[in-house]
Amino acid sequence: MNRWLIAALAVAVTACSPQSALQDPVARGERDFGGLGCVKCHKVGDTGGAWGPDLTMLGFRKSPAWIDSWLMDPHAWNPKTVMPNFNLNASTRADLVAYLSAQKGQAWREKPWAAPSAAALPAAERGRIIFDSVGCVSCHGKDGYGGYPNNNVAGGLINSLTLVTEGYSKHELHEKIKGGAVPIPNDSRLPAPMLQMPKWGEKLDAAEIDAVVAYLYSLAPKKAPGARPSKDDF
Ligand code: HEC
Ligand code: HEC
Repeated sequence: MNRWLIAALAVAVTACSPQSALQDPVARGERDFGGLGCVKCHKVGDTGGAWGPDLTMLGFRKSPAWIDSWLMDPHAWNPKTVMPNFNLNASTRADLVAYLSAQKGQAWREKPWAAPSAAALPAAERGRIIFDSVGCVSCHGKDGYGGYPNNNVAGGLINSLTLVTEGYSKHELHEKIKGGAVPIPNDSRLPAPMLQMPKWGEKLDAAEIDAVVAYLYSLAPKKAPGARPSKDDF
């Protein structure tokens, strides 16, 4: 069957049967992601807005349990968030979790940092594109400033990265990013921290990690040590 015919049939099927006709939760989640307007603020692959984090690799960095609790009430996790509470019902939420958890980077036809316009940039600039696209920004904040919550960790926040040059050589930083890390719980009686530092070596090659390291090194001299983030950074 030719592809236009398949597309026309798909439209006809969607048009004349109830929404539940989509059997696959991932497909239903994709439909709702567009229908609810999530795509206005979030990118998956090449399409979507840039107000919120790029979600093309969300399923690699965040667990289904965390995605579910975020969608249930974004403000319960982060009182400062600008993402609205959509008051999603349980089945819509489950479909969105299925769709989003399946996003492990495959939706990019071309990785944003590998595009011809990016390939010529200095390593630190390419590193910034990687940092934002794969979602380091979703845990460590814009320009690595921090400010994003984690449960059961000292201070309640994921660490900022603006001063990592003081604690790590380039080689150590590379190894840390490659291997990830599990934060130590603040209180061993409480549930473990939901957000962990992923093992980026599973997704990024050595040259890509080096570009991120160059970017993190570029953050340090611009800001005075201990400089407080401004509210634009969140
Ligand atoms: C008005 C813009 C906006 C809309 C609409 C929006 N979001 Fe968000 N979303 C954000 C922002 C901004 C963040 C990052 C948290 C922050 O800084 O406030 C976020 C964070 C997230 C995260 C965590 C991202 C990560 O990288 O870990 C997920 C998942 C998410 N949104 C899913 C959705 C879904 C699903 C919808 C639709 C039901 C949606 N968002 C609609 C702005 C939006
Ligand atoms: C899902 C959330 C999450 C994402 C996404 C994430 N990190 Fe992390 N990262 C953490 C947590 C949590 C820690 C602290 C781990 C610990 O306590 O040992 C951490 C620690 C680090 C550290 C060590 C910092 C220090 O002060 O010791 C570096 C460097 C780092 N991350 C870089 C990155 C880079 C680069 C990316 C993107 C390629 C990234 N992280 C993406 C959660 C995340």
